Amino acid sequence: MAKIIAISNQKGGVGKTTTAINLSSALSRLGNKVLLVDFDSQGNASQGLGALKSNGQPTVYNVMLEGFPIQNAIVHGDKCPVDILPSNMTLAGADLMMDRLSSGKEQLLKNALDPIRDQYDFILIDCPPSLGLLNTNALTAADSVLIPVQCEYYALEGVTQLLLTIRLVQKTSNPKLLIEGILMTMFDYRTRLSVDVSQEVRQTFGRLVYQNSIPRNVKLSEAPSRGVSIFEYDPKCKGAQAYARLSREMLHLKEDVFA
Ligand SMILES: Nc1ncnc2c1ncn2[C@@H]1O[C@H](COP(=O)(O)OP(=O)(O)OP(=O)(O)O)[C@@H](O)[C@H]1O
Ligand SMILES: [Mg+2]
Repeated sequence: MAKIIAISNQKGGVGKTTTAINLSSALSRLGNKVLLVDFDSQGNASQGLGALKSNGQPTVYNVMLEGFPIQNAIVHGDKCPVDILPSNMTLAGADLMMDRLSSGKEQLLKNALDPIRDQYDFILIDCPPSLGLLNTNALTAADSVLIPVQCEYYALEGVTQLLLTIRLVQKTSNPKLLIEGILMTMFDYRTRLSVDVSQEVRQTFGRLVYQNSIPRNVKLSEAPSRGVSIFEYDPKCKGAQAYARLSREMLHLKEDVFA
């Protein structure tokens, strides 16, 4: 039965999609069967793994709101071993459609994932930069939330709001929801700001923060244009090493398992 992890932070551009793509890939390289659900109408995760192949292609929208069979919408990565449930612009209309439902509007993604849940070890959900119904659906479907936080001024802006949302979901639609961890992203060890922000986040959230941070690494921003994860693009770069270490930390594995 897959563990479902929502990668969420309503602040834009903090590294959610980069983490979703490369953590999925790192977990699959450790022998896990992984599905990445693109749950953002920007479709960045789908594009970043080359999963958008044609215009009329079924997406998470058709599965969640029109009953399209999920097995037929999942794309099997050809360059990367991760399976993808893609998304595109149509998801932008989902909030409105969901809001019209009289009941169960928070459970739509959970119900959509149920039929394939036992086929995977991990299902990662790349959330949109908002706290609307899509995000609530992701948090309702998930066992835990991974929160990427960018090492910049105002880093914590929004995290407090997200934590309140998580608490609300725990009280209403998903009492078992846990916080998987807080991940510092785009860390630049040369700048005082990165070091200060990282310290502040660690002081505030203590053991919830992963030991491993993700460094600012240009290779991580280049890989999506080739439709591959960092492990196909440049497996030796610092970004790849950081996501590999993060995957081991998540699974509580010793350092040399990913040789
Ligand atoms: N560690 C990193 N080093 C360098 N560039 C990065 C790193 N992480 C992310 N980026 C770049 O920063 C930008 C934002 O990252 P990303 O798309 O992963 O954020 P996001 O939180 O998913 O954004 P959105 O909220 O719009 O969905 C992208 O151009 C990405 O390539
Ligand atoms: Mg994104």
